[in-house]
Amino acid sequence: MDFNQPATENPADRQRVLGKSTPRIDGPLKTTGTAPYAYERHDVAEGQLVGYPLGSAIAKGRIVSMDTSEAEAAPGVQAVIRTTDMDVLGKFQMNVVPLFGGPEILHYHQAIALVVADSFEEARAATALIRVEYDEDETDGFDLAARREAALEQEGEIEQEVGDFETAFAEAAVTLDETYTTPAESHAMMEPHATIALWEGEGNLSVWTSNQMVAWNVQGLCDVFGLNKENVHVDSPFIGGGFGVKLFVRADAVLAALGSRETGRPVKVALPRPMIANNTTHRAETIQRIRIGANEDGTITAIGHDGMSETQPGGRGENCTAQTPVFYAGPNRLIVNRLVDMYLPEANAMRAPGEASGLMALEIAMDEMAEKLGMDPVEFRAINDTQVDPGDPEKAFSERHFVECLRQGAERFGWADRNQEPGSRREGMWLIGHGMAGGYRGAPSTTSAARVRLQPDGTAIVETDMTDIGTGSYTIIAQTAAEMLGLGVDKVEVRLGDSSFPVSAGSGGQWGASSSTAGTYAACVKLREEIARRLGNDDASALEFADGKVTTGDRTVPLTEIASDGEIVAEDTINFGDFREKFILATFAAHFVEVAVHVGTGETRVRRMLAVCDAGRILNPLSARSQVIGGMVMGIGAALMEELAVDTGRGFFANHDLAGYEVPVHADIHEQEVVFLDTEDATSTPLKAKGVGELGLCGIAAAVANAHYNATGVRIRDYPLTLDKVL
Ligand code: MOS
Repeated sequence: MDFNQPATENPADRQRVLGKSTPRIDGPLKTTGTAPYAYERHDVAEGQLVGYPLGSAIAKGRIVSMDTSEAEAAPGVQAVIRTTDMDVLGKFQMNVVPLFGGPEILHYHQAIALVVADSFEEARAATALIRVEYDEDETDGFDLAARREAALEQEGEIEQEVGDFETAFAEAAVTLDETYTTPAESHAMMEPHATIALWEGEGNLSVWTSNQMVAWNVQGLCDVFGLNKENVHVDSPFIGGGFGVKLFVRADAVLAALGSRETGRPVKVALPRPMIANNTTHRAETIQRIRIGANEDGTITAIGHDGMSETQPGGRGENCTAQTPVFYAGPNRLIVNRLVDMYLPEANAMRAPGEASGLMALEIAMDEMAEKLGMDPVEFRAINDTQVDPGDPEKAFSERHFVECLRQGAERFGWADRNQEPGSRREGMWLIGHGMAGGYRGAPSTTSAARVRLQPDGTAIVETDMTDIGTGSYTIIAQTAAEMLGLGVDKVEVRLGDSSFPVSAGSGGQWGASSSTAGTYAACVKLREEIARRLGNDDASALEFADGKVTTGDRTVPLTEIASDGEIVAEDTINFGDFREKFILATFAAHFVEVAVHVGTGETRVRRMLAVCDAGRILNPLSARSQVIGGMVMGIGAALMEELAVDTGRGFFANHDLAGYEVPVHADIHEQEVVFLDTEDATSTPLKAKGVGELGLCGIAAAVANAHYNATGVRIRDYPLTLDKVL
């Protein structure tokens, strides 16, 4: 199906099942421990061996020698794979840095060997017996702050230049020029990277893995091993979190496949938790200079954002200026990005890449600017709203209700009652503060296919290689098919994550929900057309599907009768047409936060949070809310505790496990409220829906920081806002 014009009224608009809060259909499997996660798939292949990886002990240099003889002789060891011997180095188009080191090492914990043994313990013990001699390079390439001055000498990449920023900024009545920093962050998902691989014959490879993008994973494995797609099978039905670190094929999958090729047996590999932060990817550290100029009345006349991010050479770093070209109005604009080549592990996508970091800076700057203007920060944002791209006024937002988010949020939160004098509201030993911020995240949708199979018993099966990274994909896809076919959700079985199924958009970039349900919709439309044909009616739209029956004219036929001769199968792909290029598709939020900061210890408690979200039609308010509150929790982490600490001498992340890398826990989370405007964005998809999975994280950390300032009167521009920075 080609989506070539805004959606008109269609069967998904009935909202009998869609739009209703529906508990996850995969919930019982997860809560009973029976959902099959990659490392636990003992049933898929007999005689599994266990692989344990070894990572480089230096960040930059070369391997001089690697002695594996002792490891090879150790008990239970079946094979030792040295990546220095491999023929697959450097062939990883989806990653910036080769997954394996040897002879050259590009970052700490870059994988250099795998020991395959009968048991996990034997593999791990033997790995410790591998002797590696390195030749370590001298480099200053581990410290972004130290490289900043030199980087500023170089020309940045101009993302947006409109009017004359420098003059307008110099002439503005009120100005702000501040620099903000955000640290490197780790995805810290619960389930580590894990794969069971089985190599059969001349080159048939099956992997049971944990990956957000099944088709990309197939492609990645084909590239690495020179295989054809028909010979690679990837299965990833359940994923214990990803946040972007599982977008591409990673070392676990390739090492497991190498181990299986070598031993002729299935091999499973999980990246040990202490290896994940340095072996895989992270969100890049940024330094962001923001300049805003405004008239006395608060109208922005000039806006400048100079973003700087670390990256491995050739990478994209963190595009922290992503939102600034279009979030607020202003006739003079200069938005520049600088990438600083460094030799830390690979910087790559983490939930809301770009906006998550960018808004941490921009939305403090907006708060500071409002204070300089003597304006309410809600009002300051509202008067600088724009309905078009300030750099290209022909281009409008498909819909943008940001001001409505701000107004509803202020009303519901009781914003008018807040104390406007920072550092002056106290309850016992606690300073109380309120803060707010805006949120913005792009809302793309991409090609996505699905197959729907109406069964003789009147139930339906949906098959697509879409993944569920804990987001609720199973449920919204079931709701979509149920809506389209007039069934209850319990009559729809959803099968995901298998590369033998039609290729979906996968889970990334907040595009999964909108795209995969649109693909399911397209397949269901085709199935309805086939059913119409069988009923002798050429016009499928005249058919009414309800309660397991289909009605045409005065005839009502149970679906069991339609499919009584055998299942009816329909498959289709949704393709998004060019007409959408005239629009910006995006989601918006207004975040409001109350914090308490202890006057003695500096401890910050986030007492109350409210997000009002503008994200098109909400397909399942329950799972959408879960996505947003999850993002808000991550935002508390970003504001108050998350930071990969760089050892700037040796070039690695020192706190590379969940003991040292702190994330919020249950006790850190108090009241969270989410409101959806629940509009219809007909430009987005036939279901008029957009994603919410990344929106919840966008802006929230700045709202916490602004509340912290309101509580303490101390402005911190350096995330995270740890105790040492306030006391
Ligand atoms: Mo997302 S960072 O594309 O999983």
